Amino acid sequence: MDNRITDKITQGMYVLTTNNSGCIIDTVSQVSMSDEPLISIAVNKNNYTNEMIMKNRKFAISILSENIDGRVIEIFGMHSSRDYNKFDKVEMLDVDGIKIIKDCIAYMYCEVVDVIDADTHTVFIGKVVKSKLYNNEKPMSYSYYSENKDTLIKRNTEQDKVAWVCTICGYVYYGEEIPDDFVCPVCGVTKEFFKKK
Ligand SMILES: Cc1cc2nc3c(=O)[nH]c(=O)nc-3n(C[C@H](O)[C@H](O)[C@H](O)COP(=O)(O)O)c2cc1C
Repeated sequence: MDNRITDKITQGMYVLTTNNSGCIIDTVSQVSMSDEPLISIAVNKNNYTNEMIMKNRKFAISILSENIDGRVIEIFGMHSSRDYNKFDKVEMLDVDGIKIIKDCIAYMYCEVVDVIDADTHTVFIGKVVKSKLYNNEKPMSYSYYSENKDTLIKRNTEQDKVAWVCTICGYVYYGEEIPDDFVCPVCGVTKEFFKKK
């Protein structure tokens, strides 16, 4: 399968959080319409956040705008909460025991109503039991992120010279060394799977 095709599917950019853990996802979809609509999220089984949602059975989605500080994407999307405290590096708010991103457009707080095994991922169906819209900034799409990631995530720019290629999916990390807790933002593997270009 040519990855350029799935890149053409329009998706947004979100921070998914649960107790003690959180990560960037682009796989949020509305499933039903009511006062408490259902949404779906697809979470890689390697992600610590997957393990934590399985335990806690609730999660929150913070919707990110094009104005979000790129550090939020770098911190939540390129490190694992297993050995890295993401919540003390970004301004967060507490909603019934789950942290959300302070600078988000809106949040949705969900209870898990269904869990579907989907190959590399788990699809969680969540019922939105609480939500709040903070502003009307333009939501960031995955393609906006893709086109602007070098400026959004300054640490990962080509000026750092050394390119490390993920041997599983081809994602390129730019930097002198890959941090020990780095995980591939596309396929979730650890630094051992990266080779110097
Ligand atoms: C742009 C972008 C999109 C991502 N989309 C997803 C996604 O939809 N599902 C997923 O499980 N991980 C996705 N990730 C990867 C996770 O955010 C990443 O592996 C994270 O480090 C996992 O952290 P955790 O181990 O603390 O859960 C994405 C990362 C980036 C940068």
